Amino acid sequence: MKILIGEDELQSRIDQLAEQITRDYKGLQPVIICVLKGAVIFVADLVRRLDFDLEMDFMAVSSYGMTTDSSGVVRILKDLDMDIRDRHVLIVEDIIDSGLTLTYLLKNLNSRGPASVEICALLDKPDRRKAALPCRYLGFSIPDKFVIGYGLDHAEKGRNLPYIGLMEDEA
Ligand code: IMP
Ligand code: MG
Repeated sequence: MKILIGEDELQSRIDQLAEQITRDYKGLQPVIICVLKGAVIFVADLVRRLDFDLEMDFMAVSSYGMTTDSSGVVRILKDLDMDIRDRHVLIVEDIIDSGLTLTYLLKNLNSRGPASVEICALLDKPDRRKAALPCRYLGFSIPDKFVIGYGLDHAEKGRNLPYIGLMEDEA
């Protein structure tokens, strides 16, 4: 496994993101939405650095289709427990690839009447973008290679690695 982003680099970038988010959200009691499963490690490290009142909720979505390419048709596997009307919402996602999943999520959550919706993504593959997407908080832009670790999986394996690694055949 080739390491693309090491543990220390990940953690210090998350420090910076948390500072930025604290400046923007302190006092607003946001709802932090973790997109399962990939964002679970990232959100856990992130919220422990946010020293203000917030609430957490979880959503699971899946793209239809058999390929690794997002089809843009998204199915909600687990919806929020909370009502987000008039709430400030921050979506936390592992990686933006085509951007189709988040485009759908933004539209869906915005239709529920929140005060605001913003995106925080750990990784971005800008070369793959199919839909323009406003991402307020971004950890790292990476090349168009398949990565695993720190929550990201390949066939459900690799989520527990503490770093972001390149799949063997892509290294
Ligand atoms: P999008 O709709 O194409 O932006 O799909 C984003 C989703 O695809 C992410 O939430 C990941 O679950 C998955 N994904 C995209 N690229 C990778 C990767 O390199 N490794 C692991 N999962 C990925
Ligand atoms: Mg995945």
